[in-house]
Amino acid sequence: MKKYFLLLVICSSFIGQTVAEEGMWLPQLLQSLNEKQMKKMGMKINASDIYNISKGSLKDAIVSFGGFCTAEVISDQGLLLTNHHCGFDAIQNHSSIQNNYIRDGFWAYNKDQELRNEGLFATFIIRIDDVTADVLKGITGSMTEKERQSAIDKNIASLRSSTKKENYQDLFVRSFFEGNKYYLFVTETYRDVRLVGAPPSSIGNYGKDTDNWMWPRHTGDFSMFRIYAGKDGKPAAYSPDNVPYKPKRSLSISLDGVKEGDFTMVFGFPGRTNEYLHSAAIEQTVRMSDPAKIAIRTRALKVIDGFMRKDEEIKIQYAAKYAGISNAWKKWQGEVLGLTKTNAVAKRQELEASFEKIVMQKPEFNLVYINLLADLKKAYTGIEPYAYARDYFTELYPRIEILGVASQLNSLVNAFEKNGEAGYNSTKEKVLGSLEDVFKEYNVNVDQKLFEALMEMYVTDQKDPYVSPLFKDMLMQNGNSYAKTAADFYSKTKFSSLSSVKTLLTGNAKDVCDAIKADPALLLAADMQKTYSTNVTPRLSELQANINQLQRTYMQAQMDVFSQKSFYPDANSTLRVTYGNVKPYTPRDAVKFDFYSYMDGVMEKYKPGDYEFDLPKKLVDLYHKKDFGRYGVNGRQPVCFIAANHTTGGNSGSPALDANGNLIGLNFDRVWEGTMSDINYDPSICRNIMVDIRYVLFIVDKFAEAKNIISELKLVSKKVK
Ligand code: ARG
Ligand code: GLU
Repeated sequence: MKKYFLLLVICSSFIGQTVAEEGMWLPQLLQSLNEKQMKKMGMKINASDIYNISKGSLKDAIVSFGGFCTAEVISDQGLLLTNHHCGFDAIQNHSSIQNNYIRDGFWAYNKDQELRNEGLFATFIIRIDDVTADVLKGITGSMTEKERQSAIDKNIASLRSSTKKENYQDLFVRSFFEGNKYYLFVTETYRDVRLVGAPPSSIGNYGKDTDNWMWPRHTGDFSMFRIYAGKDGKPAAYSPDNVPYKPKRSLSISLDGVKEGDFTMVFGFPGRTNEYLHSAAIEQTVRMSDPAKIAIRTRALKVIDGFMRKDEEIKIQYAAKYAGISNAWKKWQGEVLGLTKTNAVAKRQELEASFEKIVMQKPEFNLVYINLLADLKKAYTGIEPYAYARDYFTELYPRIEILGVASQLNSLVNAFEKNGEAGYNSTKEKVLGSLEDVFKEYNVNVDQKLFEALMEMYVTDQKDPYVSPLFKDMLMQNGNSYAKTAADFYSKTKFSSLSSVKTLLTGNAKDVCDAIKADPALLLAADMQKTYSTNVTPRLSELQANINQLQRTYMQAQMDVFSQKSFYPDANSTLRVTYGNVKPYTPRDAVKFDFYSYMDGVMEKYKPGDYEFDLPKKLVDLYHKKDFGRYGVNGRQPVCFIAANHTTGGNSGSPALDANGNLIGLNFDRVWEGTMSDINYDPSICRNIMVDIRYVLFIVDKFAEAKNIISELKLVSKKVK
């Protein structure tokens, strides 16, 4: 592989992209790569209005929200807008039987009522520097992957100490283009972020799992927070004396909405994509990885759903878990569907054929890239059995929660064996605390059924070397019945309830640890782990390292060979801009989806008393009175809309901006048929879903009557309202 290494062809003229809407672009490169095209598509502002380090620009209104979502500043007092599902943890943490903010919503009618959230933070990007040359200094083609990484780590460490920044700022360096480029980010993180408002779940998560990943959509998926700073305006730990943050830039809000064909852009922190894979990897995802993961979750969801339907308490306990398992489950199914429907594998093979053709024609490419595609294909074939075992293990193991309890208790044993009584005592409270959380949302009958169903898949769907020998014994002793094995196992383990774990943890440290070590759940968990780490991990890591190296070369090769094309790096949770026009789409024959949804659709789905489609009475009344204020259009209230912006997980809460850079919506999802945009963006069916800002304002103003919030905002309109 070393022979591929040393070819640095300067990427020439960045013109002529194939698909206008595709791409998650680096904000600091918009001017050189995208501005022209953005303007052609309708943008009225300049790239320097989006990213500018010498004066306030749009980027100064965007934050990474808690590291997992995006939020934006919408007032000069640090008011933040994000999704309901992004703020959900905070909303849940403040909720109780008396103050059920999940069910009823929460609104602070003055700043004293805002609620503090420990651990929540908001990070601004101050500037982004290209540090590729510094990071790759001294790297040679003869280095092993390990040597390369340690040299890179050293270079990054010295960059960290030599880079100039203020003492209240942080910095990090990230790899882009699979390790061909490196950028340094100077950031400011605010850690006093308070809850300001959230609608009831029946608005903020309207349609729940049934509507998740679907269009048409009718969800008001938003919540509001406020950033607080120290008296000097700089980041500060929580203090009642902190003051609302004064931003360099906050977003103006347009009341005018968008029409078909209008320019939109989404600015945020997309998490992870894989857009430059070899066709063999896509084929493997469609045929093997996604189906394996889907199958395990289908089985698990069926078990949990069966219990949730029969038992109100289990329904509450498992609601969040169910939603979490079902979110990716549904996404993967859409991904398989979309990749299949758009012939993604065949299209990627065509691209590879033209790559190969150019490589054959040009001696300088010939020399270094001649075997690259064949090597990649071989590498993906080679990793397949191990990748399957990995997908199986990492999907299945966490679904059987008693195995997780075993891991936690094992950490107590480890602490004792390493640091004696002192280690044991200092770990015990932590372990108990986290087990208390686990058992709040745990029912032993559900777990036993999950064990029974999933261990059957573990044995029957996997090759023998990847199956725990201890479990095979257990199964044999129970006459090969999974039900009997499960019943026997749960009757013997002491790990299956908080009270029996607490009893187990009384007595002296040594006896307790001996009892933990002898428990059947610990023995099984340990044997499953050991089987995996012996028979899968070592070979998998080796093969994966090889693939990473090949993909890095292939990334550079694609940039060299298709030098007339603009390339954007895969998402890696750093700040990106994506742009596209408002557009309907046709998911299948004879079906065309409009690009706007209205409150009429909210009402069409309304099912009083239903778990997913109930509505607050006040909202229904407002609808019947058509009391939409200045947020309605011709007697109708817009709710959501779609556009061809290329987004992914992490873009939740990202602002949707119009041609003038005004806020028109809040990104929160993608359409089901288009979730394959993480691997292969296709403009025919990839759409992102946004809640219209006018629905957000209608809820805040008319439903919550939080005039205090409305009065902070900068609303603009070209129309006379
Ligand atoms: N599908 C969206 C995302 O990936 C929304 C998830 C939250 N909503 C839900 N109904 N589970 O995060
Ligand atoms: N709901 C996703 C999130 O939490 C965004 C949807 C997507 O994956 O595009 O980031």
